[in-house]
Amino acid sequence: MKEVDFLVVGSGIAGLTFALKVADYGKVCILTKAEASEGSTKYAQGGIAAVIYDSDSFDKHIQDTLIAGAGICDEETVRMTITEAPNRIRDLVQYGIHFDKRPDGLYDLHREGGHSNFRILHHKDNTGAEMERALLEEIHRHPNIELLENQYAVEIITQHHLGQWVTHHTPNIECYGAYVLDSKTQKVETYLAKVTMLATGGIGNVYTTTTNPITATGDGVAMVHRARGKVADMEFVQFHPTSLYYPTERPAFLITEALRGAGAVLKDHWGREFMQKYDSRLSLAPRDIVARAIDNEMKISGYDHLYLDARHLGKAELMGKFPNIYAKCLDVGINIAKEMIPIRPAAHYQCGGIVVDHNGESSIHHLYAAGECARTGLHGGNRLASNSLLEAVVFAHHAAMHAIEQVRNISICHEVPAWNAEGMELNEEMVLVTQTRKELQEIMSNYVGIVRSNLRLQRAFDRLNLIYRETEDLYKRSVLTEDLSELRNLIACAYLIIRAASQRKESVGLHYSVDYPPVNK
Ligand code: FAD
Ligand code: SIN
Repeated sequence: MKEVDFLVVGSGIAGLTFALKVADYGKVCILTKAEASEGSTKYAQGGIAAVIYDSDSFDKHIQDTLIAGAGICDEETVRMTITEAPNRIRDLVQYGIHFDKRPDGLYDLHREGGHSNFRILHHKDNTGAEMERALLEEIHRHPNIELLENQYAVEIITQHHLGQWVTHHTPNIECYGAYVLDSKTQKVETYLAKVTMLATGGIGNVYTTTTNPITATGDGVAMVHRARGKVADMEFVQFHPTSLYYPTERPAFLITEALRGAGAVLKDHWGREFMQKYDSRLSLAPRDIVARAIDNEMKISGYDHLYLDARHLGKAELMGKFPNIYAKCLDVGINIAKEMIPIRPAAHYQCGGIVVDHNGESSIHHLYAAGECARTGLHGGNRLASNSLLEAVVFAHHAAMHAIEQVRNISICHEVPAWNAEGMELNEEMVLVTQTRKELQEIMSNYVGIVRSNLRLQRAFDRLNLIYRETEDLYKRSVLTEDLSELRNLIACAYLIIRAASQRKESVGLHYSVDYPPVNK
């Protein structure tokens, strides 16, 4: 058994910034299931939203966030996050992250859909990779932090593992650490901690087409759901309107919204603009509107993709400002200075997740969550572009400040038993895991995607129920593997999405049902 003060699961922006902030107050262990830099953070392109100069205002950023969130954001959370943004950007700069500047020394700010101003700090079109680089360098320099790769957190440990009956109504559920599968030895180790931080990222792999890396399997959300913690807003899955249409590739490569911010325009197969039919903000309308418009145009035309036209921006601007996209498209045979870019929507971001308060603490004591796996109330029904990296750093900061205060009053629980490793090696059955994962993704993409209906949700629920039972049966008989555990987590997240979508009897934000046409407020 390992004992630490702070156990951090996940090495994206949320986990790493939390770790750096608590590291002077105790021993920190960061566990991550892949290589340290792997996760959605590394792939973030557009950047991080913040009000930096007087030409913009907190009120405008707050209004933009509330409008995108479709009236169901937590206003206090929105105000807190946006007014703290400049301080958190200062932290990131101190950690060594470089944001692009103009020749006059001011930050070069981009604009994305739903923003009334230019306020996106970025590092070319690969902001996330720059963030991971700088944060990991800081992590490796800190003597109190240990970072362990290929360590897969299976379950958080609570009173349930001490033999107590725990339900959603049990008061004072506590977290004592996590059971963790070492991918090399295939043994499950027990990590005991005073404080545990879940920063496990999104759920994109619930769907067939996603911009998310393979690590995004909703592990944190599923673990908290199984531990009887609170999860909310799962119906609000954000589909990014423009992922590169290149069907054999997974994850789908993102074509940043900043390209539309720079003037690129959505077009159909005949080279005609169509967004005027849907919203006066045209190609820069909020993501839910643009994704639905594309979905509708694809259905009307029968094509499985549309186009983004950036040709008029010219080779110099495209190569200078969007080198990552320019190179990627060229690599697959598209010269974006001469040809339109084929695009289609892809599952991109989970607005809901583990419910946390302003201290980043979940409904389970001593358990915090930050980043994409957390539901803070900032995004409401729909996240405003580039507010995600911001939310991650603001809530990692709050969680760190609170955890530093709490940690001295918490003791390690030594009664925790080792993992029960009973079960058979069922290698020949493992093909079922891969197949079931594909089936799940098909169900969710076909019935619980951008446009939903009562009938489709019911059908998804019935199909999911079957694969849930088959998978639980396999899980009970088998030795634990990461693939099988991830499949269970994907199924749990799919269930939470379908349940929340079925309970919401209206079309709002990212949840759109043909049975409840939107009401113009
Ligand atoms: P991640 O960065 O995804 O990190 C999760 C970590 O948890 C990983 O290290 C993973 O390996 C680990 N992990 C997961 N499960 C386990 C487990 N069971 N055991 C151990 N480790 C585990 N947002 C913006 O604000 N601006 C942008 O420009 C932007 N662009 C984006 C572009 C793309 C292509 C994508 C996919 C997302 C983008 N987003 C953007 C969203 C944003 O990048 C993510 O929401 C954010 O980076 C999530 O950070 P995180 O720390 O919560 O999770
Ligand atoms: C993008 O660059 O378009 C993604 C930004 C985001 O997801 O916030």
